Amino acid sequence: MSKKLSISSIKKRKGQEPLVMITAYDALFATLLSESADMLLVGDSLNMSFAGKNDTISATLEQMIYHVNAVCAGAPKSFVVADMPFGTYIDRELALQNAIKMFQQTQADCVKIEGGADKASIIEHLTQNGIAVCGHIGLLPQSVRSEGGYKVKGKTEHERKQLIKDALAVEKAGAFCMVIEGVKADVAKEVAESVLVPVIGIGAGKDVDGQVLVFSDMLGLFEAFTPKFVKKYMDGASLVREAVATYADEVKIKEFPSEIHTY
Ligand code: KIV
Repeated sequence: MSKKLSISSIKKRKGQEPLVMITAYDALFATLLSESADMLLVGDSLNMSFAGKNDTISATLEQMIYHVNAVCAGAPKSFVVADMPFGTYIDRELALQNAIKMFQQTQADCVKIEGGADKASIIEHLTQNGIAVCGHIGLLPQSVRSEGGYKVKGKTEHERKQLIKDALAVEKAGAFCMVIEGVKADVAKEVAESVLVPVIGIGAGKDVDGQVLVFSDMLGLFEAFTPKFVKKYMDGASLVREAVATYADEVKIKEFPSEIHTY
């Protein structure tokens, strides 16, 4: 990437060339991923693929700040979205206090908040106080325990109307873009057409303004489970296994280190 995207250039991509967003949790991968992605998302999904937990609920603000700093260091020219973890934005003041901490202690360009109309007042409070917000509607991973699992949205007329209400409320509150997750493709299309800001999909079909994937899913590194919407662009797990097995074999037979790797 030559130049960091600005919020206005991201907004201008509405209905134009789809935005490419991908998660990143560390400097090494951020450097690599930033070469092709428009935006890097330090998602609280790191609690699963990086920290090995069952869901995102136990991610902490401190943990997120640590990873956002690593990603910003690895990809200083990338637009970085920092996920606000569960419990850090339950009311306007707490949300602002924690988002300020994120902004002051990292170089994040915006924060991401899960929720629709119910979170509009919080999003408004942040945006009015200088914190750019990316919304997140549809399937909300931070609600997985209260909802009893990951449930695709937009299957009923009630859900369809609610998703449109959510998108409009998030936009009105000042979010400059939003993620829409786990939503029937026709409904996601309608949602995207209902707002003027870019709607970036994950498991929401192609008729939106961009796509986001979790990097460890799309590189085939995360094997615990694979949602239907994940395309594995490489079999990372097999490549890593093969490479490490070869290294182990070579160490055991003293083929490594050879002359060229010896001082
Ligand atoms: O935490 C995350 O990685 C996310 C994506 C699934 C959008 O929120």
